[in-house]
Amino acid sequence: MGKGNTEKKTKRKYIPGLAQLKFELEYDWTASEAKKLFTKTKSSLALDSIKFEDSIAGMKSMPPSSVDLIIADPPFGIDFTGKGSQYNRKRALVEDGYVEISKDYTTFTKNWIGCLSHIMKEKASAYIISGWTNLNAVLSAIESSELKLINHIIWKYQFGVFTKRKFVSSHYHILFVVKEDNYFFNKYEYYPEDVWEIPRTYHPGMKKNGTKLPEALVSRCIQFSSKPGDIIFDPFMGNATTAVCAKGLYRHYFGFELNLNMEEIHQSNLDKIALGAFYHPLKEFLPTQEKLLEKYPHLKKHIE
Ligand SMILES: C[S@@+](CC[C@H](N)C(=O)[O-])C[C@H]1O[C@@H](n2cnc3c(N)ncnc32)[C@H](O)[C@@H]1O
Repeated sequence: MGKGNTEKKTKRKYIPGLAQLKFELEYDWTASEAKKLFTKTKSSLALDSIKFEDSIAGMKSMPPSSVDLIIADPPFGIDFTGKGSQYNRKRALVEDGYVEISKDYTTFTKNWIGCLSHIMKEKASAYIISGWTNLNAVLSAIESSELKLINHIIWKYQFGVFTKRKFVSSHYHILFVVKEDNYFFNKYEYYPEDVWEIPRTYHPGMKKNGTKLPEALVSRCIQFSSKPGDIIFDPFMGNATTAVCAKGLYRHYFGFELNLNMEEIHQSNLDKIALGAFYHPLKEFLPTQEKLLEKYPHLKKHIE
């Protein structure tokens, strides 16, 4: 009989809050380290630019293994313009020209998702946003691609469109996919769950296209899955939310948008934000020792 079998296993007692108290970040950077990394990036892509062209053709002409993270929020394929009365918006503030996919959403989805792994670096990942109506198409495109599904995140938002004879939709799906098992992931919360409650943002009086992701949601993806100086790619830029968040977090951006009417909006959104303006070292997102001791007073004796 081997030695291991005769020895008694010592059971560790579970102490509430202790693991959280001992939790350490694997990576973190001060603002000046982040800025330095930003200035050092080298790439053959036209960094920090948005091209007004079809993203499927555009991705095919990008160099292989050229991006660190992808945030993709494609058109939903539901004949969306964002101008319908159900959205409660002033029509004049919704920019024209939003490009929808009127036929064969499944083929469109398979085509663009099929382009992702080629442009992703080995440790890169992608967050693909989808409503529930065309989720099937997105999941089967992922299944037939070279990507691996790691998490199926639910984004819970507030104020879905009012309904009379069905439940109000108040969530989106976010598929977190990677190319290789050794993907980069900077866990900056002790217990990050796969349901994210993030309010939609409202910008009264500001012109935009019909859909805009909250900056908090895009920033969360960027902070978990990239380092300062990394290249964040968005094939469907819309209002340039990904570009704004990347700039604000000392990351570079690159992407495509078909609607030329959005050019001025991109410029104005990007001009409003200074380089690094959203940046905070990640340790600032963790609860302080004092806060944890308030919640778990029994932990005092575990502090040297
Ligand atoms: C859901 S919106 C993206 C919104 C964006 N995430 C934001 O926060 O503003 C999708 C965008 O994709 C654009 N689009 C549609 N087909 C495209 C294509 N083949 N290539 C590039 N952009 C496209 C639409 O014009 C629309 O602006």
